[in-house]
Amino acid sequence: MLDKINALLEEVKAFEANTPEEAEAFRVKMLSKKGEIPALFQDFKSVAPEDRKEMGKKLNELKQAATEKVNTVKAQIEAAEGSRKQAEDKPDMTMPVNFWPIGSRHPLSVIRNRINNIFQRIGFVISEGPEIEDDWHNFSALNFPEEHPARDMQDTFFVEKNPDIALRTHTSSVQVRVMESQQPPIRTISPGRVFRNEAISARAHCIFHQVEGLYIDEAVSFADMKQTLLYFAREMFGEETKIRLRPSFFPFTEPSAEMDVSCTLCGGKGCPVCKYSGWIEIMGCGMVDPNVLENCNIDSKKYTGYAFGMGIERIAMIIYQIHDLRMFFENDLRFLKQFEAAN
Ligand code: DAH
Repeated sequence: MLDKINALLEEVKAFEANTPEEAEAFRVKMLSKKGEIPALFQDFKSVAPEDRKEMGKKLNELKQAATEKVNTVKAQIEAAEGSRKQAEDKPDMTMPVNFWPIGSRHPLSVIRNRINNIFQRIGFVISEGPEIEDDWHNFSALNFPEEHPARDMQDTFFVEKNPDIALRTHTSSVQVRVMESQQPPIRTISPGRVFRNEAISARAHCIFHQVEGLYIDEAVSFADMKQTLLYFAREMFGEETKIRLRPSFFPFTEPSAEMDVSCTLCGGKGCPVCKYSGWIEIMGCGMVDPNVLENCNIDSKKYTGYAFGMGIERIAMIIYQIHDLRMFFENDLRFLKQFEAAN
């Protein structure tokens, strides 16, 4: 019997449990009415009287050890369960802070905002027009002759079955809308999306963005235009920037010019970016053709004005040294993430 008691004592000492069920099973096995320890108390009756004292002591020790063990194991399991529940309910204040990833502006938005801002500082207001335009606002009012190639199906996306309605091919359409609805003085810029039926490549896309500018008042001169565009170029590309106007042709301006800025990379010395010419073309401009003013009910004898138009992608490509136009439209996060610091 002593051996049995010692064996059970060892078992009690070694016992461990992870669940309340395991602890309860152990209690039943050891201490319940039909358990090992009550059974030993039954056997105790047949122990010889001279051994009873020692045996009784051992037996009580065993019972006490088993009871204590069951109680402590159950208490431990409960405590562990409690703190697990608490952790589930409450935020863990020791966890590292979760930095939510913040978005960034698209590079075209960054550049458009900068262009807007430069002109807003000298009194230009922003105006917008529809992307789906009629022939009048996109072409006719702007003095495009009937047979002008830009009206050709090659360049313009017409709305099916209606040759009068097309996706605007430039934001110059907005200057017509502004002039039709306001009398001079007019100082406005019109940023927006334009569409042309072009094959997509590194240098061309069927969707791109332009900013159109228009200034109409009494006695506005070519020199005024030149000064404004010089101010723009310096604000945009740096104060050392020079500009150059080359004669050109647009149906809606007379005279017309193409404006170049001194190369932003080499400063005019010649490098691969400016193809060793020292200059980079950035916009078309000119004095608004009197026909256009008259088409929009503005007195061409009283008022003159200038207009200009530039591609936002082109400016962004120069500033950020991006060589493939398609990058702007693919929305590859590896590309977009590089503009997080811009605003
Ligand atoms: N609309 C022209 C284009 O899309 C750009 C342009 C040139 C706008 C000269 C103008 C201008 O206002 O005067 O290519």
